[in-house]
Amino acid sequence: MTERQLAGVYQEVRGFGLAAALVVAGAAGIAMLEAAADPEAAKVKNPTPVSEASLAAGQTVYNKSCRPCHSRDGGGGAPGPSLIDDEWRNGSTDGEIYAVIRKGVVDTRMEAWDDRVSEADTWNLVNYIRSLKPQVGK
Ligand code: HEC
Repeated sequence: MTERQLAGVYQEVRGFGLAAALVVAGAAGIAMLEAAADPEAAKVKNPTPVSEASLAAGQTVYNKSCRPCHSRDGGGGAPGPSLIDDEWRNGSTDGEIYAVIRKGVVDTRMEAWDDRVSEADTWNLVNYIRSLKPQVGK
């Protein structure tokens, strides 16, 4: 094989490699959409059992800091989305909701609260948000 031919084969292999990489990346993208929004956060277990004390603490922080955007009953408004429907753009597990509250969502009005809300109160918020859903329509 001449050097020229070799170069041609190399080009072809490279071209195929790129196409294959794109297919793999595409498949990975679809897999990501189907799986958790934040796989690492999804693995985190909620260490705070649901209790009256946890819900009361969560409600206090919620009414002070979250209600202006997500509304009193969590149904959402401007600009915060509903926290009581089944749509969880950033992941639906306790761990993912916890991560969103602590780290925020980049380029949106959902800020990181880790500098203002303690870790314990963030879990209380997760519990409180979960408790809002069954009350809809009651
Ligand atoms: C200034 C308005 C604002 C405030 C205050 C706010 N949020 Fe948000 N929040 C948003 C917006 C906007 C989004 C949507 C982000 C996006 O596009 O994914 C959001 C998203 C979320 C989500 C993810 C929803 C989903 O579907 O994935 C959770 C959970 C959440 N907020 C909880 C809270 C909690 C708890 C507080 C109080 C500590 C809070 N937010 C305060 C505006 C706000």
